[in-house]
Amino acid sequence: MLRTARFASERRPPCFVVRGERHSEQNCGTIPCLQRSDAWFEDTVIPALQSSMPVIVRGMQADEARRFLEIHHESVRGLAATDYPTNVIEAWAAPITDERLQRFLQNGDDEIRLIAEVDGELVGIGALVIANSELRACYVSPTAARRGVGTALVAEIERLARDHGLRELHLESSVTAEPFYAVLGYDIEKRGEHMIAHGVPMAAITMRKSL
Ligand SMILES: CC(C)(COP(=O)(O)OP(=O)(O)OC[C@H]1O[C@@H](n2cnc3c(N)ncnc32)[C@H](O)[C@@H]1OP(=O)(O)O)[C@@H](O)C(=O)NCCC(=O)NCCS
Repeated sequence: MLRTARFASERRPPCFVVRGERHSEQNCGTIPCLQRSDAWFEDTVIPALQSSMPVIVRGMQADEARRFLEIHHESVRGLAATDYPTNVIEAWAAPITDERLQRFLQNGDDEIRLIAEVDGELVGIGALVIANSELRACYVSPTAARRGVGTALVAEIERLARDHGLRELHLESSVTAEPFYAVLGYDIEKRGEHMIAHGVPMAAITMRKSL
């Protein structure tokens, strides 16, 4: 079933699709939150983005976990590397080992994980932690940047957040992503540092948005 939602910006032609999926018990172990609401099993078409190719946003499947981490890796190294010193980039986009993959799959923070797909290629990732009202991640592969993929991911994260009864979202933005979140209506709360792997601090901006 397709559901149409209004999207704030009118400056671009229609074009992204947010697709809910039915998940087996096995998959729900990795993306547990996808079990929580029947509303998630509807497909959503949201008009108003710039690419002529639709962006599909859906729940990550367990066998896509490595690709999820690869997109994160590509995005940090391809889009954020000029904004941070090398030691931060190395810690932020560490090598994807089997151990790291296993830890990611355990999903200790109960992240809802999303994948964005354009023309059959997986090009973006998102994550939401309901318990913290936290937009945890939004990363786009450099090859797909500035085509509305990030916007599509955030729109779906916000929809899921609202579906779970959240009234606001918080996030720790990178310096790279600050203008992106600002355009999407997130306000700056404070500038500071965010601790990443091995105690490496990175410049970060705490932002929030009322939903
Ligand atoms: C931030 C990020 C997710 C944006 O994804 P994207 O798919 O390129 O973003 P969109 O195409 O949806 O951009 C929407 C709008 O945000 C703004 N925007 C996006 N990237 C921007 C940038 N680098 N500089 C200035 N404005 C930017 C623009 O207004 C853009 O609209 P426009 O292209 O019509 O000008 C992507 O650049 C990324 O993955 N960055 C590296 C990883 C990172 O720092 N992620 C955030 C972790 S907190």
